[in-house]
Amino acid sequence: MIIQPKIRGFICTTAHPTGCMQHVLEQIQFAKEQGQLKNGPKKVLIIGASTGYGLASRIAAAFGANAKTIGVFFEKEPDSKRTATAGWYNSAAFEQKAQAAGLYAKSINGDAFSDDIKAKTVQLIQQDWQGEVDLVIYSLASPRRIHPKTGKIHNSVLKPIGKPYTSKTVDVMSGKISEVTLQPATEEDIENTVAVMGGEDWTMWMEALLAGNCLSKGVKTLAYSYIGPTLTYPIYREGAIGRAKADLETTAKNLTQKLSALSGQAFVSVNKALVTQASAAIPVVPLYVSILYKIMKAKNCHEGCIEQMVRLFKDRLYATDKVVVDDKGLIRLDDWEMRTDIQNEISALWETINSDNIESLSDLAGYRHEFHKLFGFELPGVDYTQEVDADVKIPSLASEVTV
Ligand code: NAI
Repeated sequence: MIIQPKIRGFICTTAHPTGCMQHVLEQIQFAKEQGQLKNGPKKVLIIGASTGYGLASRIAAAFGANAKTIGVFFEKEPDSKRTATAGWYNSAAFEQKAQAAGLYAKSINGDAFSDDIKAKTVQLIQQDWQGEVDLVIYSLASPRRIHPKTGKIHNSVLKPIGKPYTSKTVDVMSGKISEVTLQPATEEDIENTVAVMGGEDWTMWMEALLAGNCLSKGVKTLAYSYIGPTLTYPIYREGAIGRAKADLETTAKNLTQKLSALSGQAFVSVNKALVTQASAAIPVVPLYVSILYKIMKAKNCHEGCIEQMVRLFKDRLYATDKVVVDDKGLIRLDDWEMRTDIQNEISALWETINSDNIESLSDLAGYRHEFHKLFGFELPGVDYTQEVDADVKIPSLASEVTV
C-alpha cells in the first residue's frame, strides 16, 4: 500500500515501515559514531523499548556498548486494513539491524503492567541469559493501567492541582495559539495518575526480576522523569503527573534498599523535553518545546532522544565507577535545557509569541518535522509515493505461537 500520514490531534494513525527503519538507522548511526563504551552494560532489559526515550536507550545500549537487549512494549501489528504502529516497525528495524550486527535482541509485545508479561520476561531472561541483567530501564508512558492485582482500570490525567490553570497552547499543525484553561485534578485523578505513571509497577517489575534471580551483582535500574521550568510547573511538575514523578523518586530510594544484597542501585534520570508520542499529548508543552528547540539549536546544544541517551550512558551511568547525580541523587540530563540563558530567552519569547509570529519566534516547523518522523514520515531518502509492504514482522516474535 501507499502510506501517508493521517494525523488526528496529537496522534498519527498510520506509520511507514521504511521511514521507521530510516529513523532507527539514523539513531544507530549516531550511537556508533560516538564510539564504543568499554565498561558499559552487557545485558539490558528495556521496558517501553519501542519509541521515544526507551527506543533510544535500547539503541545506545546495543550500538554504543555492544549490549544484548530484551525490549518490552505494547504495539499493534499490521493487519489487512491498517499499518502497524510506529513502535512495531521501529522494533522490527532495531532487531533486524542488531541481529545483523551479531547482537542478541529479542522483544516481548504485550501489557507490561500485567503479571503475565512480567512472567514471560523473567522466563526469557532465565532461559537465554541465565539471569544476568545488569541494567533495567523503565521507560513506560501510558494513559492507563489495568492493575494486575485488583483488575481496576486507572486512567492518568494531565491536569493541574489545586486550582485551574490558564496558559497559551498551540495547535501544532495549524500553528494557531489559543488560551487553554485546565480544570484541577480531583484526588481520585491524582491517585489514578500515580497508579499509572508512578513507581508501583516499576517496583513490581524489580520484585519479579529479583524473585526470578534475573539480576546480576551491581545491577542498575532507572526510570525517566521530567522537571522543566516554572513556566510548565502547573501542568507538569506541580500537576498530577508531577505527583507520579515524585513517587518514582521515592520508589528509586526504596528499590535501592531492596537491591542492597546485590549492591544494586535505582535512579531517576531527569531528561530533556522532547517531541515524542507521549509529550505531544500534554497541553502547553508542545509550544514550550517549539521555543526550546529554536533556542537550543541556535546555541548549538540541541539534543534529540538518541543524543540524550548516549550522553546518559557515557557521561552519567558509565563515566566512572559512580553514577553522576545531583545533590538530590537524581541523574540530570536536563542540564542544558535548564541553563539560565536558555530559560531567560524562553520566558521572554513566551510573553510575545502569538499565532502571527510563531513560525519565526519558535521552531514549530522543526517540531512538526520531528512529529512526522516519530511515525516514519519526512525521512530523507524515502519515497513516500511508492507502494510499500506494511506487513513487517519483528524477527523474534515471528515464530511465536500466540495462545
Ligand atoms: P513514548 O510514548 O515515546 O514511549 C512509551 C513506550 O511505552 C513505548 O515503547 C510503548 O510501547 C510503551 N508502553 C506504553 N504502554 C505500555 C504497556 N501497557 N505495556 C508495555 N509497553 C507500554 O514516551 P517517552 O516520551 O519516550 O516517555 C518515556 C518516559 O520518559 C516517560 O516516563 C516520560 O515521562 C519520560 N520523559 C519524557 C520526556 C519527553 O519530553 N518526551 C522528558 C522527560 C522524561
